[in-house]
Amino acid sequence: MKPIYFLSSMLFTMLLMIACTDTNTSQKEPKKTVQLQEDEQKYRPNFHFTPQKNWMNDPNGMFYWNGNYHLYFQHHPFGNVWGPMHWGHAVSKDLVHWEERPIALYPDALGTIFSGSAVVDHNNTSGLGKGDVPPIIAIYTSHDMEAERSGAPYYETQSLAYSQDEGETWEKYAGNPVIKNPAEKDFRDPKVFWMETQQAWRLTLAAGQETRFYGSKDLIHWEPLSEFGKTIGNHNGVWECPDLFQLPIQGTETFKWVHLVSVNPGGPNGGSATQYFVGDFDGETFTVDPEFEKAMAADHRFWLDFGRDNYASVSFSNFKIPSGQQVVLGWMSNWDYATVVPTTTWRSAMTLPRALELVPFDKTYRLQSQPYFPKGNFSKAVVSKNDLKAQGKAQLVSSSEYALDHTALSVVFKNTPRFTTHFQLSNSLGDALNFGFDPQENQFYIDRTASGKVDFSTKFASHRSYAPRLETDAALEFKLFLDKTSLEIFYDQGATVMSEIFFLNAPFDQLSVEATEGIEIKALEVFGID
Ligand code: FRU
Repeated sequence: MKPIYFLSSMLFTMLLMIACTDTNTSQKEPKKTVQLQEDEQKYRPNFHFTPQKNWMNDPNGMFYWNGNYHLYFQHHPFGNVWGPMHWGHAVSKDLVHWEERPIALYPDALGTIFSGSAVVDHNNTSGLGKGDVPPIIAIYTSHDMEAERSGAPYYETQSLAYSQDEGETWEKYAGNPVIKNPAEKDFRDPKVFWMETQQAWRLTLAAGQETRFYGSKDLIHWEPLSEFGKTIGNHNGVWECPDLFQLPIQGTETFKWVHLVSVNPGGPNGGSATQYFVGDFDGETFTVDPEFEKAMAADHRFWLDFGRDNYASVSFSNFKIPSGQQVVLGWMSNWDYATVVPTTTWRSAMTLPRALELVPFDKTYRLQSQPYFPKGNFSKAVVSKNDLKAQGKAQLVSSSEYALDHTALSVVFKNTPRFTTHFQLSNSLGDALNFGFDPQENQFYIDRTASGKVDFSTKFASHRSYAPRLETDAALEFKLFLDKTSLEIFYDQGATVMSEIFFLNAPFDQLSVEATEGIEIKALEVFGID
């Protein structure tokens, strides 16, 4: 199903004609109309969340309640670049179709509303509930822009807002801030969770080059507990948007704690990215496993996503898949160029939601991510081919019937190719996006240098992105999710993930493969997503 704001091409042509013939309007107006329609036609994703209008960055306050997934987001409702932050709000029953709701949180005397989280306070520990409905408690960063402008050394505190109607409307807590600034310039992005063993709330936030932990019985009074991370991990940028949760180790009944920490810049391919740490949390302190620390020090391959466009990923509160997997989603852009991408009506989309678990790896553990569609949303296979042999360049999918822009594609090889294998997505207007696998280097790559509009930022397509292959025993396979302006590739059941955005002149309608040596594909399937 297309979003309701998707305009038919006839309407588009009519608007274009009006724009070209209306002599009463100034030169600027018609252009704006055309631009707006171009945005919708060419770039508005089919199955990823975008705000109807204006700027968006990090996902915030995600929780699940009464059959609804709630997503709040960093939002500037009056401009298409970053500005005074509000929390926008959207609700979904399937994590694919989202309904945008009124703005949830507006700036106030303490500042603009930076990133944070929300929890369902089932037992009304905060005392902020009314009747039988548990309150939803949001804790976010108040960023005092006036203080920042006037040169104050620090200007971020943590504040609380509560909702007595399941997240639709919000009141700010009268005693804000609930956590004062302990003299840190960067002190933000609180993520709250309930800790069953302690019968208490815990919170992690980013403070300069480390994360901090706090504890509370009532979500209002917080005590500092510990800090983590000064001497481990990537520190090539500022630490932001941490999360902490338990994940199951695949195929066992055992769990480990995983700490997500976004860093900007410092990502493996430049700009923003999210790293993770595996260890234990005893209710006070997060301790990384010694083997994990060794593996990370030897080679930091512990990134949630190696593509350039997945930042600030955090988990949904009050929600777990029965096996214990947590579901996260991230902002599908990069601070290197987010404010200049060629959409004007809105800016940025969220990634697909992903279910996370742990898998044994290099004497420790690594993350495994799978796209998570709770309601399916797939059509029957529109293409299904088995036992394909290809030598040189071969076309795999050619689609004149449907555009490859609401598409899931699955490719399973007979084995792992011994020579470099390049895939190419393309269209008749000459746009192309290459991705593939180089067994000599044991790495995957994405190359978007020819993917339509790329000249809006020198940082956008200046180089290929690379990702290590972490799973080496199995035959190569991948799943690819293709929307109008993004692809998300999950290699080896999600051992290595790459998510990147692009801006085409028309949707892709061809997929080809080129390999130095003959390759054998056991199965190739293409599904529609709606
Ligand atoms: C991450 C971030 C957060 C901050 C928010 C401001 O992208 O910088 O640290 O809370 O964006 O919009």
